[in-house]
Amino acid sequence: MARSQEILGWDILPLLSDCRPRRLAIPTPQARPKHSRKMTTFTRIPEDETPSIIVDVSRRLSKIDPNIYGGFMEHMGRCIYGGIYDPENPLSDTHGYRTDVLSALRDLDIPVIRYPGGNFIATYHWQDGVGPRENRPSRPELAWLGTETNQFGTDEFMHWLGVLSEGKENRVEPYFCLNMGTGSLDEALAWVEYCNGTRNTYYANLRRKNGHEEPYNIKYWALGNEVWGPWQVEQMTAEDYSKKAFQWAKALKLLDPSLCLILCGETGHSSWDHKVLNFCIQYADMHSIHIYTSGKSHLSNVTAPLSAERAIETAAALIDIARIEKNIPPSVGKTKICFDEWNMWDPTRAPGEKGAEELYTLSDALGVAVWLNVFVRQSRWVGMANIAQSVNVISPLMTTKDGVVKQATWWPLLLFSRYMRGWTVGVHVSAGAYGGVTEPAWLQGVLEQGASWLDVSASVNEHGVISLVVVNINETTDFEVDLVSVGKEVEVYTITGKDVKAVNVEGEEQVGVKESKWDGQGKYKFAKHSMTLLRWSTRKKITEVVQGDGVRLNTRKLGWSA
Ligand code: AHR
Repeated sequence: MARSQEILGWDILPLLSDCRPRRLAIPTPQARPKHSRKMTTFTRIPEDETPSIIVDVSRRLSKIDPNIYGGFMEHMGRCIYGGIYDPENPLSDTHGYRTDVLSALRDLDIPVIRYPGGNFIATYHWQDGVGPRENRPSRPELAWLGTETNQFGTDEFMHWLGVLSEGKENRVEPYFCLNMGTGSLDEALAWVEYCNGTRNTYYANLRRKNGHEEPYNIKYWALGNEVWGPWQVEQMTAEDYSKKAFQWAKALKLLDPSLCLILCGETGHSSWDHKVLNFCIQYADMHSIHIYTSGKSHLSNVTAPLSAERAIETAAALIDIARIEKNIPPSVGKTKICFDEWNMWDPTRAPGEKGAEELYTLSDALGVAVWLNVFVRQSRWVGMANIAQSVNVISPLMTTKDGVVKQATWWPLLLFSRYMRGWTVGVHVSAGAYGGVTEPAWLQGVLEQGASWLDVSASVNEHGVISLVVVNINETTDFEVDLVSVGKEVEVYTITGKDVKAVNVEGEEQVGVKESKWDGQGKYKFAKHSMTLLRWSTRKKITEVVQGDGVRLNTRKLGWSA
């Protein structure tokens, strides 16, 4: 995919006829940031000038991996038990699965779900969770200090995924995380064999004996979770982890060369990331990073996800450094970033040991919209992203005994997953900006021109439909904006509430989506503290220039081949 598009992308694509500017001229190629790799460029203007947003459809930049709308389900709090699996509840089916949760998650069209942790994985032994339920042991659980009954395990998760996938063209993909805490390599190999084995071998036969004749074909496997963290059972140094991950990856690829292995990174901008990438790059199909953001004031809260943008850029540079230093042949596919835990979360407000049930405000919803703008803008690098988590635990979706509550953060996720697909399109924003304190503090220095009041991303899908997201982070000011290159029939989706503290609770929804139409004429007013998604058609289908997968490492020969 990426490389030919990088070379052939926006330079040679014709301008789409009905996207011509009507009020302002599209900057000439000379005036544009020349050969800019930036997805969105920004010029800070005085506060009393009229902001503008130029959508440059000729700058079709990189494919948005659908996996950026991934989910995450950990054995933590009420995510599994009481979230997706709740056998005593009248809303559950005969398998014990909450049908209201299934139907809500189907709306999100989640492509992939990470399981079963998270920190939980560091002491989890998968064999405790398969076979007849009455024989499964209850164990002390050391990440969240609970008891794991093992009534829900590998086979139940795969069955539940099958139910979730009903009616979909492609199944919701599983993404499993391996226990690199108290777990052994033998145990990891056995789990892969149990899930994917097709031969007459012990663990493949155990799966068959447990009633699952066909292999699960699980492609995505993570080499541990946050093993750098002091809270982790069997915390490791980068050196120790690198050596272990390298050997595990080799063995796992010998067992099943089709696996996509995800290396355990940290934040993307740490020396841990640098060290483990340099040691393991040839086995790292993806590099995982985790960031949770929050801020005490609305503006530090809503701008905090911009730190993740810098983290992605930094991790991408570290990947390039590792490839250069390890002489990885240019035709080897790029190691992508797997942002497999992201969200708004203040653990002092919603501690993990207490189930991490956050009550999300409109400010958080706008923060989630900025997070998703970041993933769309950085689609060149991001191969997967998983909101942490999908039900009850720091989640947009909460269960009560009587049904589900869609928190304020649900709505941006839904709109992005529904519409921000295809390719990232280049945008130039001219606006005023927030220049105050940030969370984390270093972000303020990185932003240079400040954080634009209007946080923007744009995409085009295969049918040539443009979707433009504009988050007005300003708490008090509406902005009338010159929009360049929009169509004449524009669908509008707006998320807002009475103020940035608005929340959704059982029986009262203060934050939701309003739908309207716009004729594309005149300026568009982006209301204070809102997210707006505008959609219009260019009436021109996209023809993609596709590149092959490149060469892969042949683990047996320790060489690269097609
Ligand atoms: O998602 C909650 C927890 O946050 C995960 O278990 C862990 O990986 C992270 O620290």
